[in-house]
Amino acid sequence: MLVNDRFLRACFGEAVDQTPLWLMRQAGRYLPEYNATRARAGSFLGLAKNPSYATEVTLQPLERYPLDAAILFSDILTIPDAMGLGLKFTAGEGPSFEHPLRTEEAIKKLRPADLDQLQYVFDAVSEIRKALTQDGQQRLPLIGFSGSPWTLACYMIDGSGSDDFRHAKTMLFSRPDLLEHILALNIESVAAYLGEQVKAGAQALMIFDTWGGLLPDGWYQRYSLAAMQKVIARLPRDHEGRKVPVIIFTKGGGLWLNDMAQIGADVIALDWTMSISRARKQLLAINKPLALQGNLDPLILFSGSKQITSAAKTLLDDLADAPPLNSGLHSLDGHIFNLGHGINQFTPPESVQALAETVISHSKALRIK
Ligand code: CP3
Repeated sequence: MLVNDRFLRACFGEAVDQTPLWLMRQAGRYLPEYNATRARAGSFLGLAKNPSYATEVTLQPLERYPLDAAILFSDILTIPDAMGLGLKFTAGEGPSFEHPLRTEEAIKKLRPADLDQLQYVFDAVSEIRKALTQDGQQRLPLIGFSGSPWTLACYMIDGSGSDDFRHAKTMLFSRPDLLEHILALNIESVAAYLGEQVKAGAQALMIFDTWGGLLPDGWYQRYSLAAMQKVIARLPRDHEGRKVPVIIFTKGGGLWLNDMAQIGADVIALDWTMSISRARKQLLAINKPLALQGNLDPLILFSGSKQITSAAKTLLDDLADAPPLNSGLHSLDGHIFNLGHGINQFTPPESVQALAETVISHSKALRIK
């Protein structure tokens, strides 16, 4: 039994009493208790690869704030790691791969991710589900996730984070056949990985296409969106008698909203460049009444509680003025409050409390009005 199912209901555009809230990267370095656990684990990978540490940090933000979902603590780069690319996290510099894909020979040798090497992720999912449940009552649903095939390819080819992912884009423009080969392996790996997360207990799935927005129009649809569509087509959509929603997030993807609505996802997550209310109107105009997630600029959390409250209220007020998904619903239904990208590591933890209080009280008040 799920005690709080607001998040899952909102994913499917069902009525809820208040707008559900969770935050991308809600477990992370802005929380002192996270830094303490990471110090005990020795490193980020030590944390992510140990299911009981991963469980501990997944629960940390849920102890502090009235959030409506848990998200598996892991990383999108676990898949290329399990393809043999050798993932390293250097403090202060972020992730890098020992063996980036820079030659045709290396690409031809690549194999799909070995799921046995990802057992620690599936074990973490099961352990988190257990920790969320007491006497048969599960507090909150658990979200599983993966990177998109294109976003994973960016890191696999460039070998680390980058402003422009020059190597990946150069390969796409000059040797699309090689890029397609990598994408095909990533599609297979991502679909199998997410399927195993569902079997282990994930109740919703999110695909992070952080670098889809680097692509030109036309190339995005052909290379990133089409690959996500192939993943979604292979995902289990029912488990334990409940539907499993799929959320897609392309950073910078607002312009492609209508295309994103066509690939079989249940929820579209937006960054702050597109307004939620405008997205609602646009989706209704094409008769694709999908739920939306987002999209406060994470840096708003660096201003004072007055400004945070005002920005969150404005987002909700705008959506309350937009048409509902259908005539039986409030306009605020079919929306999951979130940030437009991951929470910044320097965010004051009290800002999240101010945000959560506003989302709860204002989204309740607007529903009663
Ligand atoms: O949301 C959550 O609380 C779940 C955990 C989560 C992490 N990474 C933990 C993490 C999730 C969902 C991710 C996804 C992820 N990882 C993405 C897609 C979402 C996005 O932010 O765009 C990407 C691109 C990555 C790759 C990645 N991991 C980078 C580029 C970095 C370094 C930059 C940074 O923010 O530090 C990471 C490291 C990472 N992943 C940290 C955490 C908590 C910080 C590492 C640390 O604690 O030292």
